[in-house]
Amino acid sequence: MVAFCYNNRLELKSGGLLAQVKTEITRSLKKSEELFEKATRLLVGGGQGHKRPGKVHGRYPIYAVRGEGVKFWDADGNEYIDYLCAFGPMLLGYGYPAVDEAVKARIDEGMIFNIHHPSELELAEKLCELIPSCEMVSYFTGGSGATTGAVKIARAFTGREKVIRCGYHGWHDWCDSGERGIPRCVKELTIGVPYNDIDALREVLEANRDQIAVFMLEAFQGDGPTGTYLADVKELCAKHGVILCFDEVKTGFRFAMGGFQQYCGITPDLSCFGKALGNGYDISLVCGKREIMETVNDVWIAATFHGQLLGVTAALATIREMERIDGISTIWRQGKRLMDGLEEIMRSHGVNAWMIGQPPMPRLKFGEGLDNLRDEFYASTADRGIYFDPGHCWFISPMHTDEIIERTLQASDEAIGEALKRV
Ligand SMILES: Cc1ncc(COP(=O)(O)O)c(C=O)c1O
Repeated sequence: MVAFCYNNRLELKSGGLLAQVKTEITRSLKKSEELFEKATRLLVGGGQGHKRPGKVHGRYPIYAVRGEGVKFWDADGNEYIDYLCAFGPMLLGYGYPAVDEAVKARIDEGMIFNIHHPSELELAEKLCELIPSCEMVSYFTGGSGATTGAVKIARAFTGREKVIRCGYHGWHDWCDSGERGIPRCVKELTIGVPYNDIDALREVLEANRDQIAVFMLEAFQGDGPTGTYLADVKELCAKHGVILCFDEVKTGFRFAMGGFQQYCGITPDLSCFGKALGNGYDISLVCGKREIMETVNDVWIAATFHGQLLGVTAALATIREMERIDGISTIWRQGKRLMDGLEEIMRSHGVNAWMIGQPPMPRLKFGEGLDNLRDEFYASTADRGIYFDPGHCWFISPMHTDEIIERTLQASDEAIGEALKRV
């Protein structure tokens, strides 16, 4: 059951979190809510966990029906400028012609065969050219598939079983931090360490000498690495014979065409990519040093849809387009415009909120005690057709044009003004 009923007139009730006010909302979410009501009977949990409603007391849409560029329309016909981009895959936006046309042509000629297709090689060759750590490639589906593949490769190569992790790496048993559904013996093999804490890593490595196969690290988190953290991580891993794997599922093809590793100048032994690589088509991969990757020759890593050709074709077209339009420079430029603009808006309203992250993956942080204001701000931006995610980093696309950023900033200025009046 959805918490709020949206008609043109909305009463906000939030268990004391928000003041009870009446406001005119031109946006209806009725159809979204009806669909979700039905979904709770047909789909476990009403659908995929990360897409469940709940962002800001139910004032976000639940069902999308169409997308174009960096805009999408919900089931009630409301338009949104999208800063979540499907949790990252829509690098070039929805319905990007050069990618979708390449995929349609591939569909006409066959999207999967009994045997290999030359485009798998073409993509691997391109990846080796772009990504510093890439000497060989293994294709997967989904980011979790790739990170789990990298762990298997590392375990086979080193003959060790334990894993150190830092970041989010997916839903598979080895990295799920939940309690239920995971055998204790599997959980015990994974040790989490905090980000930017080299002493914590050193301690775990010392306490588990000759037992750690891989350090799986999201090398960019929050505001990014501090000081010499990444260089120190690399040195420590080498000293302990531990494979260093950068999980670039979020950062890949955003900070640089060669990933965050190219941007920061630290080359890991292995890397995982997914999300943005296929502009919405499912493809992920592990790449890395030849001597490690060759382990795949005698470890069973194979699945019906690994390297299916829609993903491979989409990845080739996405990379080609990103290079043609110099998408990385645009991402940095537009992300910076958004960050600077939002900070200025918050400052001008006297609100203690600031941007964290970097232009390709920014987010807004509100100071302590401002939860109500934060929620009201996001609800008000959604009312004005801006889809920021309140609890996840945002993703900037080269399709976030000047006009779109301008509209976003104008809406944000109005939204924070309204939010301040309400709380
Ligand atoms: C850094 C990182 N690694 C791995 C994953 C898992 O990818 P997927 O959800 O495609 O399985 C994610 C997903 O958000 C991620 O952000």
